[in-house]
Amino acid sequence: MNRFKSLQVIEQEGRYSMAIVERPMDELPAGEVLIRVHYSSVNYKDALSATGNKGVTRRYPHTPGVDAAGVVVESAVGDFQAGDEVLVTGFDLGMNTSGGFSEYIRVPAAWVLLLPPELSMKDSMSYGTAGFTAGLSVAALLKSGIIPASGSVAVSGATGGVGSIAIAILKRLGFSVAAISSKTDAQAFLSRIGADEIISRTEMEDSSSKFLLKPRFAAAIDTVGGRVLATLLKSLHYGGVVTACGMVNGPEVPTSVFPFILKGVQLIGVDSVEMPLQPRNSIWKHLATDWKPETLQEQVKEITLEQVPEAIQTILDGGMQGRVLVRISN
Ligand SMILES: NC(=O)c1ccc[n+]([C@@H]2O[C@H](COP(=O)([O-])OP(=O)(O)OC[C@H]3O[C@@H](n4cnc5c(N)ncnc54)[C@H](OP(=O)(O)O)[C@@H]3O)[C@@H](O)[C@H]2O)c1
Repeated sequence: MNRFKSLQVIEQEGRYSMAIVERPMDELPAGEVLIRVHYSSVNYKDALSATGNKGVTRRYPHTPGVDAAGVVVESAVGDFQAGDEVLVTGFDLGMNTSGGFSEYIRVPAAWVLLLPPELSMKDSMSYGTAGFTAGLSVAALLKSGIIPASGSVAVSGATGGVGSIAIAILKRLGFSVAAISSKTDAQAFLSRIGADEIISRTEMEDSSSKFLLKPRFAAAIDTVGGRVLATLLKSLHYGGVVTACGMVNGPEVPTSVFPFILKGVQLIGVDSVEMPLQPRNSIWKHLATDWKPETLQEQVKEITLEQVPEAIQTILDGGMQGRVLVRISN
């Protein structure tokens, strides 16, 4: 195994292109654990890395892929043995460290989790960072005391990776779910994964000067930010809770203090990247067992490394529906 296959993003005069290349093993960064990657998955951040977003990736050529599940080949620490099935999501993987769109990764041991015994490598990457972030968002609502009897939970970016997994987990836990989506042709998909109500995104981009709207939801998982998040904050019942993890609708949130000071609304930020290992383990355990949606595999499209550029373009076009799993090697 002197050489291995990777997807590489190349920069030429400010333009970025992707190609599958063979690389020598010594091009992998230093790290304690060498992993043969079996599956990866495509996330929004990979699309940013693949198109030269310097906030995500500073130097090219670069191999993106913020997720990887595979088998340990070599480990310099006793926590991992050759043959262990492991999982890496977030930290610097795929950002400025050669990522999961590759037959091998080498990473610090502090980034590596042993796969829960109930979870296959394929299922772990069917969730990937998006599913893990959905799990963190659900955990934040539960920790704030939101239960199915509290009322309906809204999920924005509903057909996307985070949104679709969040809907399916909430359904599994017995919640009534309102899916907010811009896709008019995704009703069957959204209903199948657990949406009880489907609301068009334009309806949730309030541009009135009202500080509060008619209360509709007990809680919300917002994956898009911008005006959608601002509208959700205005649309909660007393004591409502919103989690925020994304910004595809915009990084700025045109809101006021009124939802917070008149309705006791809470806004909770969700970060999947730097989350310490111990709480990570606990979320993955839930994803492997009591939160695992029956529809998980129906929500996933499996592709090869060669098909990743096409999936990245779909994300950039806002067209993602469900999750995209990348089969690297078996
Ligand atoms: N904080 C973290 O740790 C963390 C982790 C994972 C992801 N994220 C962020 O969360 C967001 C969603 O990630 P993802 O993996 O779910 O992405 P994704 O799979 O590409 O899905 C995004 C979804 O958002 C909706 N959308 C697209 N363009 C939009 C726009 N201009 N305005 C409003 N909605 C739009 C679409 O759903 P509909 O057509 O159904 O509306 C799309 O399918 C991204 O911003 C990502 O960077 C953050």
